[in-house]
Amino acid sequence: MEQLLQVFKEQFGQAADALFFAPGRVNLIGEHTDYNGGHVFPCALSVGTYAAARKRDDQKLRFYSMNFEDQGIIEADLGELVYEEAHDWANYPKGVLDVFKKAGWDVTSGLDIAFYGNIPNGAGLSSSASIELVTSVVLRELFALDIDQVEAVKLSQKAENEFVGVNCGIMDQFAIGLGKKDHALLLDCDTLEYKETPVKLSDHVLIIANTNKRRGLADSAYNERRSQCEQAVRELNQELEIGTLGELTKEQFEAHKHLIEDPIVQRRAKHAVYENRRTLEAYEKLTNGDIAGFGQLMNESHISLRDDYEVTGKELDALVEAAWNEGAVGARMTGAGFGGCTIQIVDRDQVDNFIERVGAAYEKGTGLSADFYVVEIGDGARKLEEVGQ
Ligand code: GLA
Repeated sequence: MEQLLQVFKEQFGQAADALFFAPGRVNLIGEHTDYNGGHVFPCALSVGTYAAARKRDDQKLRFYSMNFEDQGIIEADLGELVYEEAHDWANYPKGVLDVFKKAGWDVTSGLDIAFYGNIPNGAGLSSSASIELVTSVVLRELFALDIDQVEAVKLSQKAENEFVGVNCGIMDQFAIGLGKKDHALLLDCDTLEYKETPVKLSDHVLIIANTNKRRGLADSAYNERRSQCEQAVRELNQELEIGTLGELTKEQFEAHKHLIEDPIVQRRAKHAVYENRRTLEAYEKLTNGDIAGFGQLMNESHISLRDDYEVTGKELDALVEAAWNEGAVGARMTGAGFGGCTIQIVDRDQVDNFIERVGAAYEKGTGLSADFYVVEIGDGARKLEEVGQ
């Protein structure tokens, strides 16, 4: 934080007004269910994006990131916010400014903002949603906007959907906006009702493992899955009347799945329905202290994502299998898939041993070296402190 304030001064020539933070997120279970009107069960991390910011007297916007120093200061104008390829990462804060303004929030002047993020790069732990949410807190605080956090979450998702052009669901922004230390959020993505759930794993810990495999082609495959699920809803509605797959029980799905003609589309829909039900069961298991039962559902989630939804790939499968072989209580991919991270529950006493053995097996199988992190569940996006002049 000290360094970020120092960098702010160096780059922008004046001190920042205040410091802000938004975490990354990891999803425990409930994958590819958010845009299907189902449930997700994510938590906010202790790592995330820091922002130092200051209001300006004119309409200029200046952005700087310590993670992309070679890109220098990126400038834009509050009166003319458009997506620009060359602005790269700065399109996220620009997008948030744009949607806030369009929604009628009084963002009255330009800003200088410097960012520093410690979420591992490209790992699928939502560094982009983290930048969006930290920007929304900057706007709320510096312009004294009376906006509630769920509204800020929705606008951040809108920035990603409409300004950046990535068709994501609401999970990442929600977890990052409303996360709570040592809790997971059971979120109903249809109603946005949620329950803060203590993550008590007794003598176990959560470990994130990064495949260090870049998520090539992920966006087009993601959009394809979304439209396959929409197609399934249309076909099911020859007899049913549903808005999303999240409305169906497993039994209802089984009784009507013959209406879905393409077997691939049928498997996609099956995942969405079963994963949603698994997430509700997992919530029960966790609240009842049944860690083994929770872990078993994580394993089933991975298998469904691998075989029915087909969003895992060789690296995620290798890492999860290694974790299963080395005694994880539960292990699965987390996030959109096609690379990125896995999440697992591991005996506290076994952590070092586990990391060593899983790392070795993964490297042997794929030639890649994985990174491991013991998860600390942190609070959601917030202002950190005023800065004395
Ligand atoms: C990405 C999206 C989320 C969600 C997950 C899959 O992280 O941003 O909205 O759909 O994939 O569960």
